[in-house]
Amino acid sequence: MTKVVVTGGAGFIGSALVRGLLREGAGRVIVIDNLLTGFLENLDEVRAQIEFHQVDVRDQAALLPLFRDAGYVFHQAAIPSVPRSIHDPEPSHDININGTFAVFRAAQRAGVRRVIYAASSSAYGDTETLPKTETMTPHPRSPYALQKLVGEYYASVFTRCFGLEVVALRYFNVYGPRQHPSSPYSGVLSLFIKAALEGRPPTIYGDGEQSRDFTFVEDVVALNLKAARAPDAAGKVYNGGNGCRITLNEAWGLLQRLAGVSIAPVYGPPREGDVRHSQADPTLAERELGHRPCYSFEEGLRETLAWFRDAAGRAAWLP
Ligand code: UD1
Repeated sequence: MTKVVVTGGAGFIGSALVRGLLREGAGRVIVIDNLLTGFLENLDEVRAQIEFHQVDVRDQAALLPLFRDAGYVFHQAAIPSVPRSIHDPEPSHDININGTFAVFRAAQRAGVRRVIYAASSSAYGDTETLPKTETMTPHPRSPYALQKLVGEYYASVFTRCFGLEVVALRYFNVYGPRQHPSSPYSGVLSLFIKAALEGRPPTIYGDGEQSRDFTFVEDVVALNLKAARAPDAAGKVYNGGNGCRITLNEAWGLLQRLAGVSIAPVYGPPREGDVRHSQADPTLAERELGHRPCYSFEEGLRETLAWFRDAAGRAAWLP
């Protein structure tokens, strides 16, 4: 691969992608991050092999020179979290919509070959049937879901109107090493692991019978690499999930077993904007991108737990 750019490359998913691109032999890897939710520590082992730029994705003028001569831009930068987008909608609106527009526009102006855009399964909302397929009409239930969906529409419009190839990948609840558990807006599994390692009960919002298609981060990295290469993917949307779903009660049950603890969770009121069930139909991604996820939930959770238990990880990530 030629020069590649990863926006949000100091984040949990972005930094895994940076390491994946280096493993694949990417020539030059440019990492862009404003360090709002990302951490430079995520790039510690690869710092000598990348170029890091503390740039905000809304700053199109700053993006343009960094995008010149790039073959691929992996746009991961975003303010995540459904509840965060409800409690404080302006920042996520600005970064997730205006920042995404700026990335696409700068990529088009710079002559980038293809952009791979991190979309979200939240765009589906509550569908009557499971699994969720790309042909279903989206029903966003939160500002975050809507913002990510607007990015998809822009992806398709940039492909049609401006000749910029953009592929959108709807991530389904990604988890894994380096997912930061420090905020109430963090991914639920990182919060569960932190609770288990500290011997505390986790909080489960609602009855815990809501389900998610938890997707291990290395499977998402592999999906991105496939999406960059697939010949006819431009302008299209693909699910990035496993096709399985696990309830939160089951997830906590498994984690207790793996961590060797026995702690009853605390149940709280259901969360606003929450989707009840989420499960991907992965067939389109398999057929058109040649992507098949490798990690079962248990394997991914084991690896994630092992990473958090590791002395270095624990020191940096758990207070
Ligand atoms: C949503 C998207 C996901 C996206 C993410 C970005 C869906 C189905 N998924 O994730 O693709 O990547 O936003 O932030 O919309 N919960 C608890 N206790 C906690 C924290 C969370 O019970 O301490 C519950 C939530 O209420 C929810 C589930 O766990 O039911 C998952 O929450 P979270 O990890 O925040 O992700 P989603 O909002 O599902």
